[in-house]
Amino acid sequence: MSIVILGVFAADCAFRGQRLPSMGETVLGEGFALGPGGKGSNQAVAASRAGGDVHFVTRLGRDIFADMARDVWGQAGVTPHVTEDADSYTGAAFIYVNADSGDNAIIVAPGAGGQLSPADIDAHAALIGGAAVFVTQLEQPMEAAHRALQLARDGGARTILNPAPAAEIPDAMLALCDVITPNESEAEILTGIAVASVDDAKRAADALLDRGVGAAIITLGENGALYRDRDTTLHVAAIRAGAVVETTGAGDAFNGGFAAALARGDSPADAVRFGNATAALSVTRAGAAASMPDGHEIVALLSRQG
Ligand code: RIB
Ligand code: NA
Repeated sequence: MSIVILGVFAADCAFRGQRLPSMGETVLGEGFALGPGGKGSNQAVAASRAGGDVHFVTRLGRDIFADMARDVWGQAGVTPHVTEDADSYTGAAFIYVNADSGDNAIIVAPGAGGQLSPADIDAHAALIGGAAVFVTQLEQPMEAAHRALQLARDGGARTILNPAPAAEIPDAMLALCDVITPNESEAEILTGIAVASVDDAKRAADALLDRGVGAAIITLGENGALYRDRDTTLHVAAIRAGAVVETTGAGDAFNGGFAAALARGDSPADAVRFGNATAALSVTRAGAAASMPDGHEIVALLSRQG
């Protein structure tokens, strides 16, 4: 059962330090790493490593970061469907990682991925229409995501929208989502409800159900994740798999693991647990795509939880 993911690749330039500089200031960093990122690509790598048959639709420039993208997909077993864009650059991200907490702040320039158009989507209509599970995010233009969700829905796929980075989303597009997966701040931007507790997350999920999504999963960082549809509510506590090194891509790990589990037929509840464990392992390692665990590690972590 194939998983088709639409999104952006970005080369992550990750700086570790004690704090961000203010404008006009220079601070010394404590470390630097260059590695593969981009939300869509990270989700594709996570889903493939977790055991899924994953196809990734994107646009790349013609530069060394495009080579990095092809390398990471090759290693992870992701099948790429790339439009090359000689007039733009491959996406890149500036990532500040707090050296103590592992938390991050990101500026992502999607470059060629930001040029993905409905016409690019139509060029992959058969692939998207034939997916068992379709996943996208919001690093490429909204119109491209909307068109792809429509094709996926028409073809009978389970559709997942990870609304990151946060943006306002038209109701017509939300109605095409079987599952939406915001984090706390994205849920607040979508619903106007500040999410500081599991109860808040339930109310934000209800607001999203009212706007037409089939189910909402609000990821809650240290508080795990809340799944809610019209019949079921499930709160899955966060799992600790070791010391937190870097949280970049943790949401992507969740989405990729969740998609892989759904595609092989897990119930939504089991898929949420699998995504949660995928994210738990990813934060114990540096980098975004580079930190995605293999399926057997996820299974082992879940079996240790009992
Ligand atoms: O979700 C994490 C990702 O966001 C990073 O890899 C960065 O590239 C940005 O897209
Ligand atoms: Na990580």
